[in-house]
Amino acid sequence: MRAVEDLPTPAVLVDLDVLEKNVARMAERARTTGVKLRPHAKTHKIPEVGRLQIAFGAAGMSLAKVGEAEVFADANFHDLFLAYPTIGGDRARRLLALADRVKLAVGADSVEGARSLSEVFAAARRKLTVMLKIDCGYHRVGVEPSNAVEVARAIADLPGLELGGIFTHAGQAYAAENAAGVAEVGRHEGETVAAVAAELRAAGLPVGEVSVGSTPTAFSAMRVPGVTECRPGNYVYHDGSQVALGTCGPKDCAMTVAARVVSVPAADRAVVDAGSKTLSSDVLRPRPNGHGLVLGTSSRLDRLSEEHGVVAVAPGDRFRVGQRISILPNHACVVSNLHDRIYGVRAGSVECEWRVAARGRVD
Ligand SMILES: Cc1ncc(COP(=O)(O)O)c(C=O)c1O
Repeated sequence: MRAVEDLPTPAVLVDLDVLEKNVARMAERARTTGVKLRPHAKTHKIPEVGRLQIAFGAAGMSLAKVGEAEVFADANFHDLFLAYPTIGGDRARRLLALADRVKLAVGADSVEGARSLSEVFAAARRKLTVMLKIDCGYHRVGVEPSNAVEVARAIADLPGLELGGIFTHAGQAYAAENAAGVAEVGRHEGETVAAVAAELRAAGLPVGEVSVGSTPTAFSAMRVPGVTECRPGNYVYHDGSQVALGTCGPKDCAMTVAARVVSVPAADRAVVDAGSKTLSSDVLRPRPNGHGLVLGTSSRLDRLSEEHGVVAVAPGDRFRVGQRISILPNHACVVSNLHDRIYGVRAGSVECEWRVAARGRVD
């Protein structure tokens, strides 16, 4: 077996012991709250990791784009939800082909968008399951709870669609001040969709799934009565932002980036071969603080260009040219999307190499 030390840099590593622990822990939380787990594969984009989640009891996968769903259908996943407002006749035709192969649902937050899917499915005398997206305070996409009945009714009336339920994503949790603030956002996330579900049912509309989910809010949102499904993604790997938010500790982070010092031009500056092409430019959340922590030191990358990561050397730390370092990235999901392959490592050896099969599927 190849030693981790022998891998060329930069390389993205996933500690398999930590990955398995993360997957098992979230599966157990979902089981004890009686909520279905439908992990968002945006974090890994790797069918092998998805299979591990399914083996631990996940009901199916969440994805964002049709192209990602095509990759996972090709890899024999049978139950997929596109947690994204999916629109347009071209995509609807691809969804029609996918619906022959898998149990499929897609997100919608407008009647216009839903109509563009309905036309294609109605012409084929088929029905596509649509989940209405509710805005629980992130203010990205989703209908306001007060408009949910009206939009849900209009969508349910479209001939090529059936309303499968509602979903939301509390991305505002990433700006919370502390763990208590995150838990409060999660409670609000769950309570918002539970209340909307009750209203829709009172209006005679069918609501199957009531789906919540982000990694920080998963545990609190899952516990709200009425929630049936949860879609955390980042928890498989975790990252610097989850540590900063208090979602997990440093030992729960499975993904690291192996890099090498290529230059030490000054005592307070070292330059490594991992820049924005490797780490992305995503900032640390909830408060920006550099572009990654150099593990085992107090130093962080404080500046990136494409191929250069500039480490601000903290007092007491020392770097030398040629030294291998390990970086805890700010945001694991975007790192996955930048790399063709990821190495699964255990006890210093490379146990497997995974192709990031759904990376770059932006359509
Ligand atoms: C719609 C949706 N659901 C679920 C998730 C998973 O959230 P997280 O990455 O915090 O686990 C995301 C992440 O962006 C999302 O956009």
